[in-house]
Amino acid sequence: MEKNIKIVEVGPRDGLQNEKEIVPTEIKVQFIHKLMECGLKVIEASSFVSPKWVPQMSDHELIVNQLPQESSIQFPILVPNLKGFENALRCQVKDIAVFAAASETFSQKNINRSITESLKEFSGITKLAIKHGMRVRGYISCVLGCPYEGKVALTQVVQVAKALYEAGCYEISLGDTIGVGTPTAAKLMVKAVMSEIPISKLALHFHDTYGQALANILACLDLGIATMDSSVAGLGGCPYAKGATGNVATEEVIYMLHGMGLKTGIDLDKLIEAGEYICQYLKRPNRSKVAIATLAKNS
Ligand code: HMG
Ligand code: MG
Repeated sequence: MEKNIKIVEVGPRDGLQNEKEIVPTEIKVQFIHKLMECGLKVIEASSFVSPKWVPQMSDHELIVNQLPQESSIQFPILVPNLKGFENALRCQVKDIAVFAAASETFSQKNINRSITESLKEFSGITKLAIKHGMRVRGYISCVLGCPYEGKVALTQVVQVAKALYEAGCYEISLGDTIGVGTPTAAKLMVKAVMSEIPISKLALHFHDTYGQALANILACLDLGIATMDSSVAGLGGCPYAKGATGNVATEEVIYMLHGMGLKTGIDLDKLIEAGEYICQYLKRPNRSKVAIATLAKNS
């Protein structure tokens, strides 16, 4: 197998958004720089969300201003509404991500909009952004379950994915926000979305709350998926999904993919260093088993 897999590193955004203590901007910027040195080509850097809702992301503008201007690396920034888009435009952001949900209650709790209202707003934002030369990624939360509603209908996931794709999103990231999915369900969900959207335009965004993320990724690899989101050291959680832990650790994904003969262009040792850097700052044990084992072997 000589296939290339694209990794979208979400540590600086999804990984940090739920941290109660504000992480200083310079630590975040240093963290992003360490991730850049690993060979990552997409690093989600921050969110243009309301500081009242997610205080940890309130330094979004300072972060964006310190990202390299001329870089082959993409730094998507989350945008929840028109105000966030206008701020992104003013700061000359090139990559944004809009985020809808497949669950009505989650949509209300996360962005204070119904699914229909949000899709209308995101469609307008996406079209405007494309006119301004931006690239827009589309997220869907709760594709395998919702913290408030439990089961989520596949038809709802497909409908939201179609709406974001038709609005012009270049990629649709399928979020198992609370990590409840299992391999058969994950594969069925991706198959349903694939019936409407080419697999090359889909990404997996699996949280590891129930320890299933890697198994779910493996199941979906069989379908030909080639983009996945992950968070170094398994950092993270969603402020509007109680108990949700971090994304699957990037180290675990890289170790598995490289072991299978797949290419990512990412240096695992440097990635482990970047994970250790942020865990040491946060005074938090590293949640990546690959990082723990590698560090123990080298000590
Ligand atoms: P709202 O309260 O309905 O907004 O929140 P509003 O329009 O009524 O405005 C209220 C106040 O917020 C006003 O200020 C606005 O100016 C301000 P005031 O007049 O009271 O001083 N405001 C803003 N400020 C900065 N930036 C903005 C902005 N918008 C309004 N963009 C809103 C609606 C969408 C803003 C809010 O719900 C919000 O920020 N939500 C974001 C929640 C969030 O970040 N969640 C985590 C990310 S999603 C996720 O983690 C899932 C994902 O990883 C995939 C997965 O795992 O499934 C992507
Ligand atoms: Mg997430």
